[in-house]
Amino acid sequence: VTDPLRQAANQKEQPIGVFDSGLGGLTVVRQLQEQLPNESIIYFGDTARVPYGNKGAETIRRFSLQVVRFLEEQGVKLIVIACNTVSSVALELIQETAGLPVVGVIEPGARAALHLSNSKRIGVIGTIATIAAGKYPAILNSLDSEVKVFAQACPLLVPLVEEGWLDSPVTEEIARIYLAPLLPQKIDCLILGCTHYPLIKTTISKVINGNIQIVDSAIETALEVRRVMQRQGLLNDNTSRATQLFYVSDFPQKFEEVAQRLLGRPLVNVKQVNIDD
Ligand code: DGL
Repeated sequence: VTDPLRQAANQKEQPIGVFDSGLGGLTVVRQLQEQLPNESIIYFGDTARVPYGNKGAETIRRFSLQVVRFLEEQGVKLIVIACNTVSSVALELIQETAGLPVVGVIEPGARAALHLSNSKRIGVIGTIATIAAGKYPAILNSLDSEVKVFAQACPLLVPLVEEGWLDSPVTEEIARIYLAPLLPQKIDCLILGCTHYPLIKTTISKVINGNIQIVDSAIETALEVRRVMQRQGLLNDNTSRATQLFYVSDFPQKFEEVAQRLLGRPLVNVKQVNIDD
């Protein structure tokens, strides 16, 4: 006979699953570690197939379901879709399919932007798939019908981040070109609608006016994860055993190298796994 109390305690100690197409979700991991230090994390970065953002919705959904199945098999208690592209085209599907709570990045970022913006003129940048899906304008307008959203796809930024070109003049020039059409729209707030972009926040802030506030959805998402876990009684109260495990579908060494630069410390547990069967 299974003891329900023991079962609940065991479930609390299960890891959180974090999913991104590559390195970008590490910006969410960084925030989770800060805000939820007791929680163990299992990360999956689909480095064999990154970027997702210039692929079609069907392909992104197929890849996403494979990753979610893999994370479920690892016994995670909740899944964070630390990717705007997947959150834009597959969040509902994943929520319907997965037998556990799933948190995406779009709504937390949209809420934070609404909170910050005075002019209600909000810019959003993301991958082609994220911008095409139109989830940011839809959610922002459902929360406040007076908001005007100006969206811009920036497809070259993810490969630059995956290469670790975070403060290169090339990245700055490309960001300048992408952001130029947004600036005359007098936005007072810019949503980084891709989890890779917080890694080039400094570069992005160089090419926009100083009075435009930047919304980093990684921070907001970690707060939302805490709220959901609190509500569902999933927070781990055991303070001694948090672990991290990182799975990638290709090039673990390169992931380790760039991740170390991003997180400021070496990642010890990086493993390669094939989920494409
Ligand atoms: N980090 C992902 C996002 O937030 C996108 C990266 C990709 O294009 O694969 O949209």
